[in-house]
Amino acid sequence: MNTDAAPLIEMENLERAFTTDEVITYALAGIALEVRRGEFVAIEGPSGCGKSTLLQVLGLLDEPTAGSYRLAGVPTDEIDRSEQARLRNREIGFVFQSFNLIPEMTAIENVMLPFMYRRGVERSLRREKAEQALAEVGMTPRADHYPSQLSGGQQQRVAVARAIAGGPSLLLADEPTGNLDQETGREIMDLLDALHEQGTTVVMVTHDPDHATRAGRRIRLLDGRIQ
Ligand SMILES: Nc1ncnc2c1ncn2[C@@H]1O[C@H](COP(=O)(O)OP(=O)(O)OP(=O)(O)O)[C@@H](O)[C@H]1O
Ligand SMILES: [Mg+2]
Repeated sequence: MNTDAAPLIEMENLERAFTTDEVITYALAGIALEVRRGEFVAIEGPSGCGKSTLLQVLGLLDEPTAGSYRLAGVPTDEIDRSEQARLRNREIGFVFQSFNLIPEMTAIENVMLPFMYRRGVERSLRREKAEQALAEVGMTPRADHYPSQLSGGQQQRVAVARAIAGGPSLLLADEPTGNLDQETGREIMDLLDALHEQGTTVVMVTHDPDHATRAGRRIRLLDGRIQ
């Protein structure tokens, strides 16, 4: 099978139910979604409609309770945890609203972190790739700064560098500008635009309609369903 020709993302009838105190919540209630390589998709919708859950499942950080999800042609429910982790490391980069940098590590160390889990990547090559990624987000001069010494926008730049250093085909961003002022938020969006221009597939959750208009396709979720 030629997996490159397949859509990057194929979801069918996908559900994610959470059971708490015998109450079942369908965070995702039957999602059908196809995303082709090179697309830029924005996901919008009210609080609690399932946006973050969808991103977590897309990123193989959470598993659906029903339905199917193929990533890069691979049926994710037919592979075990370690294969899922390998697929995630190879294909996916994450950017979160809250940056999620490790405070005890410098910018460059944070960017090198994902490579620690990759066998066969030498230390010198890890540093080289991390330096390239930091340069791409304009953070070379701050490579040896700790997150507490950086502004929010600078921290998010480092987080983007960490997400792209491994050359992922899919960049997932959950409200990447949610903790930033408007101007800084626009700068981060310019960065995502540039990555998309270079061929990265981007799926981004946002509450900001201005940012959503940058996407080639906008998807609205309501109560775990695509509207
Ligand atoms: N671990 C969990 N256990 C139980 N319920 C959960 C869990 N995670 C999410 N949910 C529920 O699933 C639904 C969707 O949550 P989700 O975080 O995906 O919403 P969201 O669209 O990202 O909201 P927001 O815009 O506020 O970030 C909510 O009703 C939430 O309470
Ligand atoms: Mg959310």
